[in-house]
Amino acid sequence: MSNPASPPAVGVVDDRPPLTFPPGFLWGAATAAYQIEGAAAEGGRTPSIWDTFSHTPGRVVEGHTGDVACDHYHRLGSDVALMAELGLRSYRFSVSWPRVQPGGTGPANAEGLDFYRRLVDELLGHGIEPWLTLYHWDLPQSLEDVGGWPARDTAARFADYATLVADALGDRVRYWTTLNEPWCSAFLGYGSGVHAPGRSDGADAVRAGHHLMLGHGLAVQALRAARPTAEVGVTVNLYPVTPASAAPADVDAARRIDGLANRFFLDPLLRGSYPADLMADLAKVTDFGHVRDGDLATISTPLDVVGVNYYSRHVVAAPDPDAEPEPYWRAPSCWPGSEDVRFVTRGVPVTDMNWEIDAPGLVETLRRVHEEYTDLPLYVTENGSAFVDEVVDGRVDDTDRLAYFDAHLRAAHEAIEAGVPLRGYFAWSLMDNFEWAWGYTKRFGMVHVDYDSQVRIPKSSARWYAEVIRRNGLAAQ
Ligand code: FCB
Repeated sequence: MSNPASPPAVGVVDDRPPLTFPPGFLWGAATAAYQIEGAAAEGGRTPSIWDTFSHTPGRVVEGHTGDVACDHYHRLGSDVALMAELGLRSYRFSVSWPRVQPGGTGPANAEGLDFYRRLVDELLGHGIEPWLTLYHWDLPQSLEDVGGWPARDTAARFADYATLVADALGDRVRYWTTLNEPWCSAFLGYGSGVHAPGRSDGADAVRAGHHLMLGHGLAVQALRAARPTAEVGVTVNLYPVTPASAAPADVDAARRIDGLANRFFLDPLLRGSYPADLMADLAKVTDFGHVRDGDLATISTPLDVVGVNYYSRHVVAAPDPDAEPEPYWRAPSCWPGSEDVRFVTRGVPVTDMNWEIDAPGLVETLRRVHEEYTDLPLYVTENGSAFVDEVVDGRVDDTDRLAYFDAHLRAAHEAIEAGVPLRGYFAWSLMDNFEWAWGYTKRFGMVHVDYDSQVRIPKSSARWYAEVIRRNGLAAQ
């Protein structure tokens, strides 16, 4: 059993046995366009909802924006060289929709596509498999202005955009992810409003979730039409949801949150239906009148791979009128219809995000997807942790982050032993970056970024990960 309580401190003898991953296991690291690129107004790019949101006072901690971020747009060559130095086999990045199709409709912007062509060619030149995500949250602002994801038409616009990117990059990119974490886009963007576009309406959040998945299904069909050999998937962020006690009311609270967090997406995408209990929970929020005949068939268009992002577990309890004030993401609420469910902390170690560290939850999550939903190959498309890092004599010794990765890789291995067809793992993140509503105050990178000088320093975890990749597993020291 993976045990985050006993991490291998750097330089300390670790007597656990070595773990070897299956041959060809795809070792990578992930980033997203708005979090790293910068160059927000260059090369024909128009604003996305994240530009508008981050420039709205009070939305992002300390008023941070992605205007410059890690300046990756201008540092593509040296950033890919760094990936090669770390031995990455794959790099998961996202394409900025308003960079390649300004305004969200109409023709492609050649300059925007050229940037990604250069990135992909640079990766391929270093033997690094490009893994392309079409949508990591940066909806063109002009599409938000005509309704955003709660509007059905946005799904069709997304499929057009998918075709345009596939036509340009399909000859050199094998792995395609449509959406990253539609739960966040829908329920943080339109429910609690802590993410762009910052709207707070439960019914809109549910509609957004549906149209994101509809857009996904249409995009899968568009990608297949443009590139029949593409390996196409979607990335969902999943949490095991555990009741705080065996009391029936707590168990029911867990069922409700599991419905909204996990089954809202897994069931339509992989089974072609919404769970009946979830629809009943949401009855006072929406009548699901936005769901049209044929939508669920489109949404469940067969995939080649499924991506899972895993960070933590939710432990929940039945409503309690005397409970503590809500954490930041619940005001107003990203849990429409279940706003009063309590999220309980267990007192186990947490990251700088205050997310509980729970490596066994990764085993549970991967097993669940495989055993209850699909035989498709699975990939952990994100997993990682924020900690406060210190640069000392030009080094960053991030033992906490390293231990987090170690524990979760042991969990990933355990899932494989239990029969899960897990084919790869992407660390979040390659480098420190713009952490959405937290701006630059949270560092998830294996590579430290000084935002003034843009100097990159690989942390201890990066050096350790390079060794994991080289050995295709974890060493007995
Ligand atoms: C995920 C996002 C990613 C990053 C990590 C910490 O939800 O996909 O962009 O912010 O969390």
